[in-house]
Amino acid sequence: MLRRLKQPVHRRVLWSAPQKSKPRRPHELFATLQAVFNNAGQHWNHCAFWESLSPNGGAMPGVLEKKITEDFGSVVKYKEAFKAAAVGQFGSGWAWLVLTRDGKLKITKTSNAATPLATGEGRVLLVLDVWEHAYYVDFRNRRPDFIDNFLNRLANYEGAAARLQKTGAGIAVATS
Ligand SMILES: [Fe+2]
Repeated sequence: MLRRLKQPVHRRVLWSAPQKSKPRRPHELFATLQAVFNNAGQHWNHCAFWESLSPNGGAMPGVLEKKITEDFGSVVKYKEAFKAAAVGQFGSGWAWLVLTRDGKLKITKTSNAATPLATGEGRVLLVLDVWEHAYYVDFRNRRPDFIDNFLNRLANYEGAAARLQKTGAGIAVATS
């Protein structure tokens, strides 16, 4: 046993005899499913986040500005609501602009790897990563400044507008 532990982990995994699988207990199965969800969710969320960034971000096309004004009252109110959600997300998570089933824009937030794709809250038009790793290098602990920078200079509103104009289309993440 001691000799086996001294071997590198990858060698133990590669060359050890296959284990007989035991029936899983419910809590073990749940832990496995949660791990799969966390990895898949974080992959999808980050892909959507990259789609939400643009070097020419911040400029809002007329079609999106019109819809935002209809549903939030004004662009300023939309930005205030988005910032409130992003600042108010306790701990790690995401702030989202989604298009709901009834055709209204909505701002929502999720924690950790959760995503509107899973909750059914709506089609994703825009998302901001508010995990601390997303902003700490440039903004230290000033999450509000990171959010302002996103909303005014980086947000890919052109992409959000294009997704809005495709009926019912949210961010489509390439699978290859
Ligand atoms: Fe992230």
